[in-house]
Amino acid sequence: MRPATVRIRPFRATDGTAVRALFDRWSDQSTYYRFLSVSRSPAVGYVDALGDPERTMYAVVATGDTGKVIGVGSLHRAAHNSAEFGLAVDDSAQGHGVGTRLLAALLRNARQQQLAVLNAYVEPGNHRMLELVTDELPDATRELRDGVITVTVPVNAAVHHWSTHVNAEV
Ligand SMILES: CC(C)(COP(=O)(O)OP(=O)(O)OC[C@H]1O[C@@H](n2cnc3c(N)ncnc32)[C@H](O)[C@@H]1OP(=O)(O)O)[C@@H](O)C(=O)NCCC(=O)NCCS
Repeated sequence: MRPATVRIRPFRATDGTAVRALFDRWSDQSTYYRFLSVSRSPAVGYVDALGDPERTMYAVVATGDTGKVIGVGSLHRAAHNSAEFGLAVDDSAQGHGVGTRLLAALLRNARQQQLAVLNAYVEPGNHRMLELVTDELPDATRELRDGVITVTVPVNAAVHHWSTHVNAEV
């Protein structure tokens, strides 16, 4: 269902239960696309890490009409100037721009934290995520390794592109 009002805000410790519920109701396909496994345990570890600054550099949630959490995005340090990013949108809210807005918030924070590069690991059949990369991150490179596409995003080029081409605040 298309939410009429979507808000993006930083993750709070009290959001943990709502984010866990999002993953509990997620389809196997979305779980696989996000965690590259149909097991639910990576999601449990991921939610635990969201409120831990040692394991998560930054996290944001998207809320829908009733304030319900319908998406989450996060940055996790990979090296001194790079981070892995992850996006997750409720099945019923996918395809309505929520992921794009979460990505904008992550890019903005990556720039503030002076990260040079973001990476994501994408299953080759994940057309929606790959479409998002093609449309919104034209400077990103892709490399297929061991059946998974590593997407590498140069932060400054992405922020520049968004500020000139994308209808979402960066
Ligand atoms: C990938 C994901 C985060 C994208 O979020 P979203 O809210 O669904 O995406 P958006 O609505 O912002 O759309 C992104 C692009 O997908 C494309 N898209 C939308 N529906 C699509 C579909 N059914 N098939 C292919 N592409 C589609 C559109 O081109 C859109 O680009 P646009 O803004 O130019 O129209 C979300 O679908 C999701 O949580 N998927 C499962 C988990 C996952 O794959 N995470 C990413 C790996 S880290």
